[in-house]
Amino acid sequence: MCGIVGYIGREQAAPILLEGLSRLEYRGYDSAGVAVYDQGADTLSVHKAKGRLKVLSDQIEGGATVPGTVGLGHTRWATHGAPSDVNSHPQVSRSGKIAVVHNGIIENYAELKAFLSEQGVPFTSETDTEVVAQLIEYFYEGDLLDAVGRVLRRIEGAYALGILCSDAPDQLIAVRKDSPLILGYGEGCSFLASDVTAILRHTRQVSYMEDGELAVLTRDGIQCYNHLMQPISKEIVQVDWEVDAAEKGGYEHFMFKEIMEQPEALRRCISPRIRDGEVYFENFSLEDDYIRGLDKIYIVACGSSYHVGMVGKYHLERLTRKPVEVALASEFRYMEPIVGPNTLVIVISQSGETLDTMAALREAHRLGAKILSIVNVVGSSIARESDQVLYTWAGPEIAVATTKAYSTQLALINLLALRFARILGTITPEAYGAALEGFRQLPDMVEQVLSHRDDIQYFASQYFNHNSVFFIGRNVDYALGLEGSLKLKEISYIHSEAYASGELKHGTISLIEEGTLVIALSTYGPLFQKAMSNVVEVKSRGADVLALTTDSHREEMGRTADAVVTIPDIHELMLPSLGVVPLQLFAYYVALMRGCDIDKPRNLAKSVTVE
Ligand code: F6R
Repeated sequence: MCGIVGYIGREQAAPILLEGLSRLEYRGYDSAGVAVYDQGADTLSVHKAKGRLKVLSDQIEGGATVPGTVGLGHTRWATHGAPSDVNSHPQVSRSGKIAVVHNGIIENYAELKAFLSEQGVPFTSETDTEVVAQLIEYFYEGDLLDAVGRVLRRIEGAYALGILCSDAPDQLIAVRKDSPLILGYGEGCSFLASDVTAILRHTRQVSYMEDGELAVLTRDGIQCYNHLMQPISKEIVQVDWEVDAAEKGGYEHFMFKEIMEQPEALRRCISPRIRDGEVYFENFSLEDDYIRGLDKIYIVACGSSYHVGMVGKYHLERLTRKPVEVALASEFRYMEPIVGPNTLVIVISQSGETLDTMAALREAHRLGAKILSIVNVVGSSIARESDQVLYTWAGPEIAVATTKAYSTQLALINLLALRFARILGTITPEAYGAALEGFRQLPDMVEQVLSHRDDIQYFASQYFNHNSVFFIGRNVDYALGLEGSLKLKEISYIHSEAYASGELKHGTISLIEEGTLVIALSTYGPLFQKAMSNVVEVKSRGADVLALTTDSHREEMGRTADAVVTIPDIHELMLPSLGVVPLQLFAYYVALMRGCDIDKPRNLAKSVTVE
């Protein structure tokens, strides 16, 4: 998704902007640009290029050819208008005085564009963002802040905006509504960015802008205003991530690095949550009586986070005996969900900024439900609007395909299921103790699975040429199959589908023919025999079966499947957490062998902030 970085200080701005943009590349983009105020020429110099940031950087020699100490940079992921030089940001007004970078969508841009066109304003791009730049100029009568205020009263939609005007070159303006924007405080300089990683090399002192806020950045500091343009003071927080945590640290790909970081991420996520033989959540404000009084639990999320929700449903229902529904966030708000004060809505999101998930959260709030969110990015919009947040503490996840965030989300929802079961009295002390022991073992067991990655690499070398793959499984193995299938298709571009094994015979089995690759998941012990019969079913139609099961079932599975990968036997609740690791590795190695752009798969973005 688009990325913003802005700088005002005493150093040459362009190299700082390019460096910041390079930290945002992981978000996915198709073009990039910078606008810098050139004092000598008293003008804004704007440089934009379709394609990778390197194209832009080469054009301006890493920024060296662009003078000036204040500027804006942007990586664009096209929404309105195709990826092109002219549609890239910054967009400038007709006189070239005002430059704007924008994340989000201006929903009423067509109407505003028609109005400006009638007034004779010429447009050069197809973007909604150009409308903002032109409209600011239209209202501009010497007071930039006043003009911006008038524009904000007219535009609708979601936006994070950075604004620079050559008439007021000692300031940058930042505005936020429904799209994240962060302010950074340096020595004699100030920053704005859509993501903290863009400015982490320069400052760790940041503020998170709230919806409706505007900020004026100067070399001497930052003044913020609320939506009524009243001055406000913002809390400055210290970011304690290591810069290295957002870099590759010697690995070829972020995705591989993040797969390998899972044991550590799980330790960080789990160990502070188990104290004196009890599941413990920091600042947990949902009272026991409220949990006992729940009629229903909803889990709402997108993509892999939704797959975590699918596993969560099986575990929560099994342990608490409360009904649990899982909904895709993009569907939730349009399906008239039956939600009220006795419904807990669990929202799961790595980024905490996914627009569909955010919209579902707001709808659930409107209907009177409490929101518990499971989020990785601290201070993100979803975290801030929830009644209760549980942070995954996975650290920054850079690869577009999620791995360590998925694993830590899963750990948290399992811990939650266990805690709720304890409160509701639906688990015996022995079963509770056994599950806690499973959590204690999990990080080491994940390490053990990772240590066998060469086996997975070998299987990937056997199968990477297939063009179509089916993942089959029952119960939690079905949910696991959905994630394995998504991982494979999103980074290797192999067509892949996940099926509940029992559903195959209702239609899809007609696609199984000689040599079709079927990845059969059978880690869930109680259904092993059922899963075996599905393996026999597809084998007898010619499928090539790669099976995933537990060590104790290796032999039996090996009698039917063509190849078997195993995970150690562990407490039932942890099986999907172990099972996902070989599937992540398989997708990774297959994509590697097919020469794919693993960390930035085509058409995808890390944080999906459009509907
Ligand atoms: C797949 C993947 C996506 C995300 C989805 C939701 O590997 O990463 O499917 O899970 O876009 O994103 P978050 O969790 O940030 O809301």
